[in-house]
Amino acid sequence: MVQFNLPKNSKVLKGIYFKDKTGSKNIKKIHIYRWSPEKKGNPTIDTFEVDLTNCGNKVLDILNKIKNEIDSTLTFRRSCAHGVCGSCAMNVDGVNTLSCMKSHKDINGDIKIYPLPHLRVVKDLVADLSTLYRQYESIEPWLKTKEIKSKKIEINQSKEDRKKLDGLYECIMCACCSTSCPSYWWNGEKYLGPAVLLQAYRWIIDSRDEERKERLKTVADKLKLYGCHTIMNCTNSCPKGLNPAKAISSIKKMLASN
Ligand code: SF4
Ligand code: SF4
Ligand code: FES
Repeated sequence: MVQFNLPKNSKVLKGIYFKDKTGSKNIKKIHIYRWSPEKKGNPTIDTFEVDLTNCGNKVLDILNKIKNEIDSTLTFRRSCAHGVCGSCAMNVDGVNTLSCMKSHKDINGDIKIYPLPHLRVVKDLVADLSTLYRQYESIEPWLKTKEIKSKKIEINQSKEDRKKLDGLYECIMCACCSTSCPSYWWNGEKYLGPAVLLQAYRWIIDSRDEERKERLKTVADKLKLYGCHTIMNCTNSCPKGLNPAKAISSIKKMLASN
């Protein structure tokens, strides 16, 4: 019988327990995935007892408190703290989300925090997004207007055409959707995944762009586009309430009718 074993060094071990030193009665236990390339050991789950008195409501507030007051080596990405930059995406309580948008008050009991799944871990909660960014670059996410540009005229867009970008332009490339997509987990190098395909559609549908045909041709590939099996995890996980699965099926429809 075939036996599947994980390599020894991928086993997640029990880590350090950071006990509360404040004596507060308002304590929440936070379990966090830790791994450092410098230490070269197995990943661990460290547990922090965090005093929630004087702590903001978001999961990111807890992480900042841990970093500032308990363990300054804890590593995670964040920037805007307002759901705009997409850098604080991680897996909180089994769901990919933005830690700056997720309220810890909505989570009963202990909180488990992991990096975005199925990506190489750089350190602790920082996952390697370089493949995703390469794929994003491949769809050339900028307006192509050679002809109009040469005439040096203003590019107008009707209200109706502008409306077509709603539900697309709001994407902040946080990667919550792509890293919750089973097709992207198994074929991440070839399948573009929901985040990049939603972005591709955003430029395909832009009435000001002059290269719709070429853009469609670029994504019309068995693996790049048709890796999507409409499982819908992507749409369920988008913290901005967007619908990448719908964008993907719109691209497929456009290709079928061309
Ligand atoms: S579609 Fe949503 S989940 Fe996906 S990258 Fe954009 S904002 Fe993030
Ligand atoms: S609908 Fe497509 S992109 Fe979204 S999770 Fe399913 S397979 Fe992935
Ligand atoms: S820190 Fe910018 S989206 Fe969370």
